[in-house]
Amino acid sequence: MKKIRFIDEVKIQNKKVLLRVDFNVSLNPNQTIADDFRIQRSLPTVNYLLSNGNKLVIISHLDRPKKRDDKLSLKPVAKRLQSYLKGYKVRLIGNFEKEKINNSDNKEVILLENIRFYPGELKNNQNFAKKLAKLGEVFVNDAFGVCHRVNASIVSLPKYLPSYGGLLLKKEIEMISKIINHPKKPTVAIIGGAKITTKIALINKLLSLANYLLIGGGLANTFLCAQGYNIGNSFCEYEKVEMAKKILFKAAQTHTAILLPSDAVLGKREENKTIVKNIEEIKDTDSLSILDIGPETQAKFGMAISHAKTIIWNGPVGYIENPVFKRGTDFIYYSITQNSQATSLVGGGDTLAAISKKEYLDKITHLSTGGGAMLEFIEKGELIGIEALKR
Ligand code: 3PG
Repeated sequence: MKKIRFIDEVKIQNKKVLLRVDFNVSLNPNQTIADDFRIQRSLPTVNYLLSNGNKLVIISHLDRPKKRDDKLSLKPVAKRLQSYLKGYKVRLIGNFEKEKINNSDNKEVILLENIRFYPGELKNNQNFAKKLAKLGEVFVNDAFGVCHRVNASIVSLPKYLPSYGGLLLKKEIEMISKIINHPKKPTVAIIGGAKITTKIALINKLLSLANYLLIGGGLANTFLCAQGYNIGNSFCEYEKVEMAKKILFKAAQTHTAILLPSDAVLGKREENKTIVKNIEEIKDTDSLSILDIGPETQAKFGMAISHAKTIIWNGPVGYIENPVFKRGTDFIYYSITQNSQATSLVGGGDTLAAISKKEYLDKITHLSTGGGAMLEFIEKGELIGIEALKR
C-alpha cells in the first residue's frame, strides 16, 4: 500500500528543501498579524529541517488575491517568522530569483512571496509547478490547511521532487484519524456557523459517529424552521428546510440525539440590547433576530459536553462579531476545556477565530490548523494534497 514518508522517518540532510506551509494567517486592518497560530504550529518542522543542515525555501499563500497585491504581501509573516528563528535571517523574495536562492547561506531562510500572486498556482499549471520544483532538491508539505485544494504547490510539486510530509501534517493526520476512526462513546459533536450548505457533508458524517449532535448558530435556525417554529427576523436558509428535515429523519434512524436551542438571545446585530426568549415564544412578526444560544440551551449543551468521552467542535454558536452575542460560544469553549476525561478535536477557521480565552487552549487534545481541510478530512478520511505525497 502506498504511504507518506514523514521527515522524521527519513534522512533529509544538507539539502535545499522546498517547504509548503499554510501561513494563511488572519490580518488586522493595518496588515499586522491578528493570530499567528498557523506559523507557530509549523515551527517544529522548520526547526527540525534547519537543525539537519538544510536550506529552506518556504512557500505559502495568504488569502485569495486575484493578482499581485501589496496588502497581501507575506511581509508581516516574514517579520513574525523572523522573531521565532533566532540565529537565522528570514529573507522574503518577490520573484523566483534562483540566484538569490542559490547564493543564500545556511543561516538564511528564504520565504517566497505569496504564491497566489502567480496565476499558475490556482490553475495548477504544470509549467509553473516545474519552475517551482527547480528551486529545491526535496519537497516537504506541512500545509494541512490547504491540502484540500488542487493547487500547483500542493498536488503537482510532489510529481517533480522526492516528497515528504512535515511534522504538523503528520500530527493533523494522526490526531484527526484517531478521533474519527476510534471515538470513545459518548461522542458529542457541536456544530455552529451560518449555513447548512457548507456543513452538510460534515453533519452527515457526524450522524454515523456522534451520540449527540448539538446545533447552534444560524444553522440551527434552519432546523428550527424544519420543526415548524417561528424564528421572527432571524437568518434562515428557507430553501434548505427540506434538507434539514432529511437530516432530522436520518438522525432518528442512526439514534443520534440532535439537540437544538430551546431558548435564544435575540437582538439586532450591531446593537447591544438583548432579550432572552424561549423558542416557542418567538413570533413570526418578531423584528429581532436570534443571535446566540440562551441560558437554558447552554445548560443543556453543557450537560452533554460534560459527560462526553469524545468531543468534536466546529463553528461558533452565535454572532461572535458582536461580543454581546459571543457568550454562548465562550461557554461551549469553556465546557470543552473543563471536561478533562474527553478527547477533544476543535477546528475550522471560524472556530479558532471565535476562541477568545486563549489561555485554556492546552486543555484541547487537538486544535486543528485546518478550516475546510479539516472538515473534508473528517468527511472523507483523505485529502488530495495528502494523496499526492504517497509513494
Ligand atoms: C484556509 O484558510 O482554510 C486555508 O489556508 C485554505 O485557504 P483557501 O480556502 O483560500 O484555499
